[in-house]
Amino acid sequence: SLNNIANNGSQLMKDAKAKKLEKRLNEEKKRREMHKSKYVDDPLMHQKIEKQLKEEELEQIEINAVTEWKRQARTESYGIKSKLSMQEQRESLPVFQSREELLKAVRDNDFIVIVGETGSGKTTQITQYLAEDGYINDGIIACTQPRRVAAISVAKRVAEEVNCKVGEEVGYTIRFEDYTGPSTKIKYMTDGMLEREALVDPLMSKYSVIMLDEAHERTVATDILFALLRNVVKKRKGTLKLIVTSATLDSIKFSQYFNDCPVFHIKGRTFPVKIYYTKNPELDYIEATIDTVIDIHTNNAQGDILVFLTGREEIETCCEAIVQKMSVLYKSDPSMSELVVLPIYSAMPSEIQSRIFEPTPKGKRKVVIATNIAETSITIDGILYVVDPGFVKVNAYDPKRSMDTLVVQPISRAQADQRSGRAGRTGPGICYRLYTKNAYLKEMPANTTPEILRKNLSHTILMLKAMGIEDVMEFRFMDRPKEESMLKALEELYILEALDEEGKLTETGRYMAYFAVEPMLSKTLIKSFEFGCSYEVIEVIAMLTVPDVFYRPREKRELADKMKRRFDNYSGDHLTLLNVYRKWEASGFSKDWCTDNFIHEKSMKKARDVKNQLIRLMEIVDKKESGIQLSLVSCKNKLEQVQKAFVSGFFKNCAKRSSNHGHTDEDGVFRTLADNLAVYIHPSSSLFKIPGVDYVIYHTLVLTNKEYMHCTTKIDPAWLVQYASKVFRKANEGELSIHKKRERIQPLYDRFDQNERWRLSRGRR
Ligand code: CDP
Ligand code: MG
Repeated sequence: SLNNIANNGSQLMKDAKAKKLEKRLNEEKKRREMHKSKYVDDPLMHQKIEKQLKEEELEQIEINAVTEWKRQARTESYGIKSKLSMQEQRESLPVFQSREELLKAVRDNDFIVIVGETGSGKTTQITQYLAEDGYINDGIIACTQPRRVAAISVAKRVAEEVNCKVGEEVGYTIRFEDYTGPSTKIKYMTDGMLEREALVDPLMSKYSVIMLDEAHERTVATDILFALLRNVVKKRKGTLKLIVTSATLDSIKFSQYFNDCPVFHIKGRTFPVKIYYTKNPELDYIEATIDTVIDIHTNNAQGDILVFLTGREEIETCCEAIVQKMSVLYKSDPSMSELVVLPIYSAMPSEIQSRIFEPTPKGKRKVVIATNIAETSITIDGILYVVDPGFVKVNAYDPKRSMDTLVVQPISRAQADQRSGRAGRTGPGICYRLYTKNAYLKEMPANTTPEILRKNLSHTILMLKAMGIEDVMEFRFMDRPKEESMLKALEELYILEALDEEGKLTETGRYMAYFAVEPMLSKTLIKSFEFGCSYEVIEVIAMLTVPDVFYRPREKRELADKMKRRFDNYSGDHLTLLNVYRKWEASGFSKDWCTDNFIHEKSMKKARDVKNQLIRLMEIVDKKESGIQLSLVSCKNKLEQVQKAFVSGFFKNCAKRSSNHGHTDEDGVFRTLADNLAVYIHPSSSLFKIPGVDYVIYHTLVLTNKEYMHCTTKIDPAWLVQYASKVFRKANEGELSIHKKRERIQPLYDRFDQNERWRLSRGRR
């Protein structure tokens, strides 16, 4: 089934990497033997080469893409571009035909839903029409995007059309990046940023029009803004307009939600798209994609190709494989026309990104290999062929590990149709679906599940409470999450002391809402100010939020593990991580230091970014009137403070060594205090086989052959009573059986019956 295919991954990607590595290792070995080097069997050689390979690969892909375009731009493409003036281009878009009608509809209604094909000009034009119609005299025109890249790319385009620099009349704001100024009138932003602004300015008083773009994506932030703005527009009595735009036909549902407001259809011109399915399921969709692209290029008439893959790594592998295969083909057939390969994903340098919009030179063909971003947020002109393997990477909640993770899964039928539609914008097109018709009809869901039904809700509920919505159970979501998940989130926030007994936001909770990390982490962070160790805690949090920093190549496991042991702190893994960060910093953030110590440099750099972002965020929060002193302080050598801060956030993840009577295989068993689950210290932990560890907290659980605790730290059980008094208390001696007396700490976890949970959810004024 599609799900199996998604889980298995591509053999091609694995093979290609292994082969290359082996070849290089042999070459290096030969070279060293020839030079009679004493380092023939250098244990670090493997790691160094693997890293080099990765970097070279990335560089090559980027160089190919850029040089190819530069060469072509010089010769041909500028000529094509200048044929239409900017104004002519604007007027040729479908939305221009409806300009007057549309402006009238906005004037007559506070809410309006606009539906139009992708590429009809909704995102780039409507904001400009509104500006031209005078809405900028009463405030700013905001337009939200679910994706950062889309916000940047449209802001750049519109600035060009308006003939200003980004940050002047037209700007954008995404997290940690603000390109707006005092003269900004049209502001593109991520939906998350507008949601955040609602914390400070619940009436959105800066804005005269808010356009919630790409509403069909149904991100949590957009869903919350729907509900919030429904009320704000009423309160602002005609001084704020809300426009909801969508590419697909969810329009009835949107209209009903906004008091049956009118739905405005932009008449687009689309051409028929012929759809081909595979006869049998494709077991390796990357390989199938590459073959299909080459096949189109060698056999089909002119027209560009758009391919949908799930993420950066897939895209890069695929680009490289296509470039490679094509170079062989050019040699055997010099008359073959060129195929220009261009990747697009969110973490890409914007210089390369803008290349995908340039027209393709005559006699050549381009293939754009994109993530889901090209489904609706970005339009590339001239696409006649779409290759759709049928997968997408989405956020999903993993209840076992208590965190949101990215998973690859089959797309919905609505997404499949949206993707094939990309082929029919400039002429009749063809879509190759790399799955069977049966999979399309039977295995794919009709619509994409809104993100709010998939994710853990603690952060969302915290945001709602911080926006002043007390009765969250009665909140009018467009799709209501399950009551059980909402109650669970409320309970979690209560025991974290973000909410009080009445379900009202506490001061701690208010600060937690500002930091865009999971509530257990933000609680730890807020408490670290009290414990005088905010500097250390920020560094540990940064290390916890990036991919694993320890590198363990298969052939060098023992050595890598030995190197890792040198960082171990016997109080636990949190402090070990701190130690790694500190040592790296002391090395001057050295690359060689990472290589020599079996540390992933990429993860470390990312941790450094997160650290700086958190510090910047903290400074912003601190400038607002604040009761809690948010200052960066170091606890120096009193690292126990760091452990205490983590207890105040992660007490829920607490486990106690199980008392066993000499059963050696049971050695090292812990039981969670919350639900008595048997859990184990992971062999990679600094606490593995360390005596005297009785109580621990852990970051997450990882299930392999056993339930392992990931990132574990030793704690004093008295801290539980001290810093999590809502959950734990010291048991009364008289109440306990002899067996229980040894445990002393008693969780109050089952204390909340349904009624009490309800009370929490209502909130009282
Ligand atoms: O929002 P919608 O999908 O309706 O269309 P749009 O994003 O406003 O795009 C309208 C036109 O602007 C398309 O023809 C795009 O190719 C072009 N565009 C561009 O050239 N560069 C961008 N960064 C964004 C859009
Ligand atoms: Mg758009």
